[in-house]
Amino acid sequence: MNVVIEGLRKRFGETAALDGLDLEVRAGTVHGLLGPNGAGKSTTVRILATLARPDGGRAEVAGHDVVREAALVRTRIGLVGQHTAVDEVLTGRRNLVMFGRLAHLSRRAARRRADELLDSFGLAEAADRPAGTYSGGMRRRLDLAAGMLLAPEVLFLDEPTTGLDPRARAEVWRTVRDLAGSGTTVLLTTQYLEEADRLADAVSVIDHGRVIASGTPDDLKAELGGDRLDVVIADPGDLAAASAAVERAAGARPDADEDALRVSVPVTDRVAALSETLRALEDARVAVADIGVRRPTLDEVFLRLTDRSEKPEEALR
Ligand SMILES: Nc1ncnc2c1ncn2[C@@H]1O[C@H](COP(=O)(O)OP(=O)(O)OP(=O)(O)O)[C@@H](O)[C@H]1O
Ligand SMILES: [Mg+2]
Repeated sequence: MNVVIEGLRKRFGETAALDGLDLEVRAGTVHGLLGPNGAGKSTTVRILATLARPDGGRAEVAGHDVVREAALVRTRIGLVGQHTAVDEVLTGRRNLVMFGRLAHLSRRAARRRADELLDSFGLAEAADRPAGTYSGGMRRRLDLAAGMLLAPEVLFLDEPTTGLDPRARAEVWRTVRDLAGSGTTVLLTTQYLEEADRLADAVSVIDHGRVIASGTPDDLKAELGGDRLDVVIADPGDLAAASAAVERAAGARPDADEDALRVSVPVTDRVAALSETLRALEDARVAVADIGVRRPTLDEVFLRLTDRSEKPEEALR
């Protein structure tokens, strides 16, 4: 294990940002930390990166305690925080070379690594402009390049791709995968569940400062009940009739999405569920625009797990 967290607690006044958080990350894997705004993700990352002290519990990074051996931990990690850290007056290239020099690379090695990263993050053309003139997405990419300069033993990324366009996001994913492939352990927070799905070997969903679910993305989807059958109806007036027909055919209460005109239900036998549902809809004279069976998405898992109004007992578990 390259990151071990046991019963971690952190308060800010009345707010319990972390309330007994437990987490383990295996060496060389990518671990996704998911949770709604205010769940405690950044607080966790900041404590692991020794930027904040916990009030209780313990955490170890690369075999060292984050409080008692903070200086040692700092030599083993890289961090890209949620807010930008680059110098606005320096050019992109100078920023990266400076980060490399701070990390004791030789001038030549720092320049070489800076050029590599400027290239792979699409910043080569802008490399000699002051970072203050960069767009938001370019700034973010420069931040990431600075954090990934060294291939540290453990890398923390707090919402690395927020605000990036799809191409830049894909580039960051590739770099993260490369780093993990070369042995770096990556702990990343994200609001893009597709990112966790694509990138993470394991994910932990946290809410109110505790882990409420963890496993591989596939494990979590399977827990939600396997496949889902979706029916999109042609006429908004049919929503209630369609829900009733789907419930009759599938034997479970469906979710109805009024805006998308979609009724959705978990199913076990894909083929039987499809044909029985079609028949039930026909009997009810509901016009169908589209019908299909699919795997649940991580978004659905997340919404279900963090839906406090509907499932208070699960959110507190
Ligand atoms: N320095 C601080 N002072 C006061 N409260 C704080 C501080 N830092 C965090 N908090 C509170 O602790 C809780 C957890 O915050 P944290 O930033 O860890 O959430 P997060 O999961 O990263 O959220 P987001 O998705 O919005 O980035 C929130 O209620 C937040 O308001
Ligand atoms: Mg945060």
